[in-house]
Amino acid sequence: MKRLAWLTLCSILPAAAALDRDAIISQYFGNDGAWYHDRIPLLETSSTEIQEVYYYRWNIFRAHQRDLGAEGYISTEFINDVGWQTQPSALLIDASNFHLREGRWCRDRRFKQDYSGVFYGANGNPYQFSEAFADGVWQGYLVDGVVDEASVHLDAMQSVWDGWNASQIASPESVAGYDSEKSLFYIWPIDDATEYTIASIDTSGGYDGFLGGSAFRPSINSYQFANAHAIANLAELSGNQALASDYRQRAASIKQNVQDSLWNDTFQHFVDRYKEDNENVTYWDYIRGRELVGYLPWTHDLPDDDETYAAAWSHLMDEDKFAGPYGLRTVEPSYEYYMRVWRYEGTHTECHWNGPLWFYQTTQVLTALANLLDHYPTSRETGVVTNADYTHLLQQYAERHYNPQRGGILDAEENYDADTGLPIVGLARSPHYFHSGYIDNVLAGFVGIRPRADDVLEVNPLADASSVSYFRAEGVLYHGHDVSVQWDASGDQYGTAGLVVEVDGAAVATSPDLTRLTVNITREEPVQFGSPTCISIQQGVDTEYPVGSVSVANADANAVHAAIDGRVWFFPESDVANGWDSPVGDGSEVWFQVDFGTQVQTGRGEIAFFADDSQGFAAPGSYRVEVNSSGSWVEVSNADYADPLPNGITEVSWDGVETNQIRLLFTPEEGAAVRLVEFKVFEE
Ligand SMILES: *[C@@H]1O[C@H](CO)[C@@H](O)[C@H](O)[C@H]1NC(C)=O
Ligand SMILES: *[C@@H]1O[C@H](CO)[C@@H](O)[C@H](O)[C@H]1NC(C)=O
Ligand SMILES: *[C@@H]1O[C@H](CO)[C@@H](O)[C@H](O)[C@H]1NC(C)=O
Ligand SMILES: *[C@@H]1O[C@H](CO)[C@@H](O)[C@H](O)[C@H]1NC(C)=O
Ligand SMILES: *[C@@H]1O[C@H](CO)[C@@H](O)[C@H](O)[C@H]1NC(C)=O
Repeated sequence: MKRLAWLTLCSILPAAAALDRDAIISQYFGNDGAWYHDRIPLLETSSTEIQEVYYYRWNIFRAHQRDLGAEGYISTEFINDVGWQTQPSALLIDASNFHLREGRWCRDRRFKQDYSGVFYGANGNPYQFSEAFADGVWQGYLVDGVVDEASVHLDAMQSVWDGWNASQIASPESVAGYDSEKSLFYIWPIDDATEYTIASIDTSGGYDGFLGGSAFRPSINSYQFANAHAIANLAELSGNQALASDYRQRAASIKQNVQDSLWNDTFQHFVDRYKEDNENVTYWDYIRGRELVGYLPWTHDLPDDDETYAAAWSHLMDEDKFAGPYGLRTVEPSYEYYMRVWRYEGTHTECHWNGPLWFYQTTQVLTALANLLDHYPTSRETGVVTNADYTHLLQQYAERHYNPQRGGILDAEENYDADTGLPIVGLARSPHYFHSGYIDNVLAGFVGIRPRADDVLEVNPLADASSVSYFRAEGVLYHGHDVSVQWDASGDQYGTAGLVVEVDGAAVATSPDLTRLTVNITREEPVQFGSPTCISIQQGVDTEYPVGSVSVANADANAVHAAIDGRVWFFPESDVANGWDSPVGDGSEVWFQVDFGTQVQTGRGEIAFFADDSQGFAAPGSYRVEVNSSGSWVEVSNADYADPLPNGITEVSWDGVETNQIRLLFTPEEGAAVRLVEFKVFEE
């Protein structure tokens, strides 16, 4: 009743002060701001680190959007190619749930839509690693509210789910399956993206642990539980009750079996049990220690809300257990092989999950903790974890993004030592790693926008009032509405003390405290962004067409390929260089050519030039575009050449023309080279 009174009162309040979008976008993204301007919600908060890292993580998101051409975009995981990615797309599915949960806050729905099309299409690789892709699609739907787009892959979601339900799945890449005697899924830890965990190390008798160690794990069972719920939810929206109840039943069975079998009352934790049976370990025995993966059931709302399971959370903030001084450990220090290293690349330590801090599981645990604090009232009541813990862990997570080994720049690395805060792996492939989430932890946790399937906007901030004096998230596209959430403890920051929820610019709910607010809203068609198909993408360096070439002799094929590989970023560090470098300017003109292998219609281009004085790169003063017209090179007609924009997208358009080859020509400035990050060509 009290809340209703508030709502009536507040709907007449004026909208609070808005953030200066142009200035913020320019501050964080410079000349590349156009990509972000209409696509991202803004965030301002009294925690400098949480705010700066929020924008850095959008930079990561953008950098890892790989345009595959006709198939659209996927999210990649490594900034540089690695040997175990799906060829030629570079798809790696183990972090896909993060990619989708980050992407659900992008106002442009294209990225998650395209990614789903690839994952559930002919070139997807759904058993490469354990996955919660259907859940990611469902989580995206909760934000945008567009039923048709979420349910388009419902059939494929079922086949993928059913594919995991085999005694040994038919994938050469993954050792996993379903044990019908125990009614649980098992997997090698490495196929769960977590090599060197207790199961795999102990299976080898402490000899290794990279491969092997099949176990019934909290991870894959929670993912399959979440995927089953997603399928059931989408089936219900499509009016297919029979399908919905089939998958609800599957989810219920997994839940029951995870609770009955993976909960270990001695450890007071969900832990692996062995599928493996050899001289070192015995089938169905529990592993001998607690792992952070034991919180994953809450990431996907699996456990019952009771005091038994809530006890697991007493280990989280315990400094002798998971809570390292610089972040969460993946395995507790009491384990015999805690932090032991077996595998190296040269002299560099390779990845291990036997203790190091990993953003992957930090993200999952923050999501789990947010779920617990938001809608596990009995567990929350025990007081073992609080909003202050959530805020502390998020703050600590943000701080780890500043890499002292790379001069303090913002840089998400592969793993860290929880006792020193320093990155461990640091290989060539490691910088700006998109193997985790953060934006979702900020918007759904800290700010507390709890996405829902019904026509309700629910906000329950987990930001801790004692340490967070203000925050404002603005321009969140939710069910077709523009939503902002603002907290100002004193009123000094925004002129209004308290919590304010705004919909389409009007304050619709307020509270003097950081507390839960709900508002009924209508469902509107969200704004639609364009979805042009790039026709100049070459997915792999050996893919036949389109293919690039340059005016310079003996050019590096990988560098030429990089300028049409669908990846755009402007990180200044020289070890993540992306594109083709022209010779240093001496007055002569150079060109970059794309051969389409067939006649195609062209009318527009997007050019990405990198620039950095200290490395000797500058955008050219001008450029032009030519096409092969019946055997001779002619400049496109009526070209509208935007001024070359360093570290951003230079737009060019011309009168539509058919051609088999196109060239970008420019003269590098005297003494400087041009790095062509990307040359994208479109029909119009
Ligand atoms: C897996 O498949 C078997 C055989 O078809 C079936 O009996 C079982 O219920 C399925 N398990 C789940 C969790 O759906
Ligand atoms: C069991 O452990 C020993 C090391 O103690 C190792 O040499 C052996 O290979 C292990 N057995 C298997 C089947 O992995
Ligand atoms: C928990 O697992 C350990 C083995 O790691 C085992 O000794 C213990 O009996 C298990 N506890 C229960 C209650 O099953
Ligand atoms: C919100 O919608 C629910 C369900 O339609 C309704 O019961 C409730 O009264 C509405 N609340 C307000 C404040 O309009
Ligand atoms: C234009 O394309 C045709 C057909 O591939 C080719 O034979 C010709 O050499 C090209 N012209 C130029 C000037 O490169």
